[in-house]
Amino acid sequence: MDRIRIVGGHRLNGTIPISGAKNAALPLMIASLLTEGTLTLENLPRLADVSQLARILANHGVDYTIEGKRSGDSDTQGQTVHLAARQIVDTTAPYDLVSKMRASFWVLAPLVARMGEAKVSLPGGCAIGTRPVDLLLMAMKELGAEIEIEGGYAIARAKNGLKGGDILFPKVTVGGTHTALMGASLAHGTTVIHNAAREPEIVDLAECLMKMGAKIKGAGTKTIEVTGVTRLNGARHAVLPDRIETGTYAMAVAMTGGDVLLQGARADLLQAALDVVEQTGAKCVQTNDGVRVTRNGGAIQPVDVVTEPYPGFPTDLQAQLMALVTRADGVSRITETIFENRFMHVSELARFGAQIRLDGDTAIIEGVQTLKGAPVMATDLRASVSLVIAALAAEGETMVNRVYHLDRGFEALEKKLGACGAEVERISAG
Ligand code: UD1
Repeated sequence: MDRIRIVGGHRLNGTIPISGAKNAALPLMIASLLTEGTLTLENLPRLADVSQLARILANHGVDYTIEGKRSGDSDTQGQTVHLAARQIVDTTAPYDLVSKMRASFWVLAPLVARMGEAKVSLPGGCAIGTRPVDLLLMAMKELGAEIEIEGGYAIARAKNGLKGGDILFPKVTVGGTHTALMGASLAHGTTVIHNAAREPEIVDLAECLMKMGAKIKGAGTKTIEVTGVTRLNGARHAVLPDRIETGTYAMAVAMTGGDVLLQGARADLLQAALDVVEQTGAKCVQTNDGVRVTRNGGAIQPVDVVTEPYPGFPTDLQAQLMALVTRADGVSRITETIFENRFMHVSELARFGAQIRLDGDTAIIEGVQTLKGAPVMATDLRASVSLVIAALAAEGETMVNRVYHLDRGFEALEKKLGACGAEVERISAG
């Protein structure tokens, strides 16, 4: 298994291109199941999760073609991909495929909407908690699907098609909202989604669905109205920039000091997170080319942060922020309200000498002056990158093991950081 070796202590200076958002790319790719037409996605990041989902979709009958590179294209430029589900050849998503990536469960809604049935393996637990799918299934029931759980599979049937319904989510769920949007787009009649997730990736999916002919109002607000249509067509859509990657590199710069342009980034997609980065003492400025992050000397200031659904501070940046404030001049508190077990990075950060105490869903971080490099390993993708942030500022060498987690969600991480002066190399296994 590949590892990443980092020698800390270098400031970051230069430009980091921001990739297309993983969490938008995945539902957009899944939306290709809704139409016989060709869905062309631009700015798709090169990530292990994207390739894995392409395999899952191929199993259902999606033709997946990656457009060739043109001269002058850089390695970091997103890919353009054509997805065409002219015929759905299989409505089952088997365990060995779904268990590798939770989001693949989201194929359920488009398969039922188009084919009247689907059998999708329940995703099971993952490193950050139990992560149930009850609300996704509830949404499908509201749209008229009959659901059975058998042999570890969710089997959903709607022989005469889905119908419009009133979906009230008791808790904000991104996957639930994606599911409701995709199902309702091809249902008979009108659906109202109450307490919908407002994440930018929801808006991105809704915009793409509208280009495909869906009738959606209110995406980005708490109430979304979808009027079903009988068929959707192909479309062309560019994936929005990754706000989690943006926030991660902003925190890396806040950690090491320096001056980096996060090229193509949009501050409006992560204002709450950038506000927190500024509270720690860095500056984040939107320019025509992206977001410029600078920190010139001065101590890292402690913060008090609670993770929340969008537009609040995202849970997907919680681990990275924790890494940053391990070196703050004072005590920080970070409360995780989205996932119950998302503190797996705490014990790994302690290996650098960080002082962190857990009190229920709150981590209390007492800043230390120096971190020291260590061999570490991570259990999920955001936690892995928090270890990279710590390593960039730690004295001496850090070896980050289990790099496959990073490859799931961060495109060309070592190249992007290396180009800005970090001492980082990938050590390939075998
Ligand atoms: C998505 C993101 C993930 C992010 C998360 C929260 C993708 C591919 N993944 O995950 O990176 O951390 O949003 O912003 O976009 N829940 C239930 N029942 C359900 C579904 C969810 O109880 O049926 C709970 C979850 O356990 C969690 C909360 O709702 O406590 C939010 O989860 P959700 O927004 O659904 O996360 P995902 O869509 O899986």
